[in-house]
Amino acid sequence: MRKHYQHEGLVEEQLAADPVTQFTRWFHEADEAGVVEPNAMVLSTADAEGRPSSRTVLLKGYDRRGFVFFTNYGSQKGSELSVNPCAALLFPWIAIARQVQVAGRVEKVGRDETAAYFRTRPHGSQLGAWASEQSSPVSSREVLEQRYAELERRYPEGEGVPVPPFWGGYRVVPEVVEFWQGRENRLHDRLRYVAEGDGWRVERLCP
Ligand SMILES: Cc1cc2nc3c(=O)[nH]c(=O)nc-3n(C[C@H](O)[C@H](O)[C@H](O)COP(=O)(O)O)c2cc1C
Repeated sequence: MRKHYQHEGLVEEQLAADPVTQFTRWFHEADEAGVVEPNAMVLSTADAEGRPSSRTVLLKGYDRRGFVFFTNYGSQKGSELSVNPCAALLFPWIAIARQVQVAGRVEKVGRDETAAYFRTRPHGSQLGAWASEQSSPVSSREVLEQRYAELERRYPEGEGVPVPPFWGGYRVVPEVVEFWQGRENRLHDRLRYVAEGDGWRVERLCP
């Protein structure tokens, strides 16, 4: 399984002045190239002792303030972020020999922003958020389905579902963003933005 990468390089002269603009370019290129769910990203967190854990979540928005995903605040990731509000994100766009890594501090998004996003979700997903005590053991699938059925009776389709108080968004505020492009002979390109004052410093890393 030895893959030869023969892709165009990533050069300093063509790099955007800030990582969000650069991310936008690559995100669209990943989408155009047919990468499946290019907004799927691996989120890593760590507990108070520094033990790491990772899982996939979906990027639901990004701008200069950071990268946003939604989840259950009582989940394992939520508990870890409450004691250690730092995270790493990884976009593994393997089909186009690229990856983007983001690391930074994490903050909860405002309740208005969470509510605005919650209202765009399908009714079933809104009920699912209520039904699932994410990351807690459950005795059987039937228990979950029963909870869901009760919620369906309480909030039939067409009726507004309130936002669960234990559910909402997090924003990863980038401190470091690295763009990796696979190249020939394992001489890959790695350009890393590091936050400095109000701007960004860019450095090239050995592959
Ligand atoms: C493609 C994909 C997308 C996912 N998106 C989300 C998401 O946006 N939010 C979420 O809470 N879980 C999402 N999950 C489920 C998580 O990977 C994970 O199982 C769940 O959040 C519980 O994680 P935790 O126990 O580590 O907190 C997704 C899983 C996959 C495979």
